[in-house]
Amino acid sequence: MRDAVAASLSDIAYCMHEKKPRVMTPSEVFNAMSRRGAQGAAPQHLSVISGAVPLELSGTLFRVGPGRLRNYGLDYDHLFDGDGFVQRFSFSQGTVRFRSAYVETPQFTREKRHERPMYRSFGTNLPGGLLRNAFRFNLKNAANTTPLMVNGDLLVLWEGGAPHRINPQSLAYRGHWTGGGPLRSRTAVERIMGNGRPFSAHPKRIPGIPEIFNFGLSPGLRQRLLLYRVNPDTGAVQVSETVLPRLTFMHDFAVTSSGRRVFFDVGVAFHLLPAFAGLIPPAASIREDSNAQTIIRVFDNADQQQIIPGPSGYVFHIPNGYEEESEAGATVIVDTCWLQRFPETDDFHAMLNNRFPRNPLLPTLTRHRIDLTNNLVSSDELSEYSLELPAINPAFQGRRHRYIWGIAEPPTRRPAATMFGIAKVDTDVAHTTYRDYYPFILGEPVFVSSGNAEDEGYLLLLAFDPQDSQGLLLILRAENLEEAARLELPEATPLGFHGLWAGDEA
Ligand SMILES: [Fe+2]
Repeated sequence: MRDAVAASLSDIAYCMHEKKPRVMTPSEVFNAMSRRGAQGAAPQHLSVISGAVPLELSGTLFRVGPGRLRNYGLDYDHLFDGDGFVQRFSFSQGTVRFRSAYVETPQFTREKRHERPMYRSFGTNLPGGLLRNAFRFNLKNAANTTPLMVNGDLLVLWEGGAPHRINPQSLAYRGHWTGGGPLRSRTAVERIMGNGRPFSAHPKRIPGIPEIFNFGLSPGLRQRLLLYRVNPDTGAVQVSETVLPRLTFMHDFAVTSSGRRVFFDVGVAFHLLPAFAGLIPPAASIREDSNAQTIIRVFDNADQQQIIPGPSGYVFHIPNGYEEESEAGATVIVDTCWLQRFPETDDFHAMLNNRFPRNPLLPTLTRHRIDLTNNLVSSDELSEYSLELPAINPAFQGRRHRYIWGIAEPPTRRPAATMFGIAKVDTDVAHTTYRDYYPFILGEPVFVSSGNAEDEGYLLLLAFDPQDSQGLLLILRAENLEEAARLELPEATPLGFHGLWAGDEA
């Protein structure tokens, strides 16, 4: 039944796009995009298919993601496992110069030399059963999640370990990044895992504060929450540690303009023994724990912690957080892409293998008001649309924002666990503007400001056109989601996770 609905929607969409009709379900589109393997492209100018690249766009966009999900015959079961691939777009005088390359880490290079998979991944065991997976903890650092500029290096982040450094112009590999030493493995478990100290894929730059904030979750039977401050000019890192009373899995956090950091420590259960024994990959050991209470951890600028009970659910991405002061005290407002529960690992496996997930989840943009005086939280939905991979105007990071953009899906959802449109949410009036791109599948939008108004600027995003198997760069006007330009990429690749507008820094 679901496939029938999808097929009819697909037909309609193709008619709307005036292309030859071909039935392709949303799952098939996702599968076709994900299973493409990137080769990498030499420097070249991109062709403009329609519109014109705005002259005011000047600077460099980086995008990072898995470049391939098949590694010497091994099909990865999880999006997080694909080998890190960087795409560089340099905007100047109405043209875009492009190049792309894999992050040639020592692990990547060793597998290339031997032409076989040699590392267990977060979401995929090695072929060969227990012999090759039991008690094998040195997972592959896929270097595939987020780009970050620090001290002339482009860092490629992966939340399970320390970043790798590459040349921001040539994309050539430079080495491990240790932040001047503090990201070297310290605990026994970190040393066994061999990837340095975990450094999350969601660092935050707050206007007016020179340091970059980030965190890491150091593994062990007693997890440690590592709070980082990074000097972007020298690359030096300061770390403070908090031992957590239970195991958790956190992907993102909020940082306010006063340096308060907010974490949603949510209820998940770890089934570690089968993962240690090599029966299941590590990702499959993390499951929903419906009995666990969400704990909101708020650290002030002096790293003092306040704990507030929170609503049940799960969150990957947090567009922003900010503070409001009143006579009644301080309130922290945090907007989140909120899920009802921790998703099943099989959802990723299903989508990558052209199966419909058993119980797919899509997040809802939800605002949490955290009353620090009375230790209370209230939560409200900001949009009836599902929204993920959110973006805001970076000038508003840490302070009160009005607009959030993201890939989106209307309330009358297509039967898929992914999204085929883009939305702008006006949080002041809870109004959503939506533009449908089905059957194109879209990646995360990156906001680039072009004026003083919060929504004056452009959204840069990658898209995959399944009919022509074509990769695209879309430039949209952020204010109204109108398409300013559409450019053709030399090869279609998985759309990847996160991007960075580096301006003239790279
Ligand atoms: Fe992320």
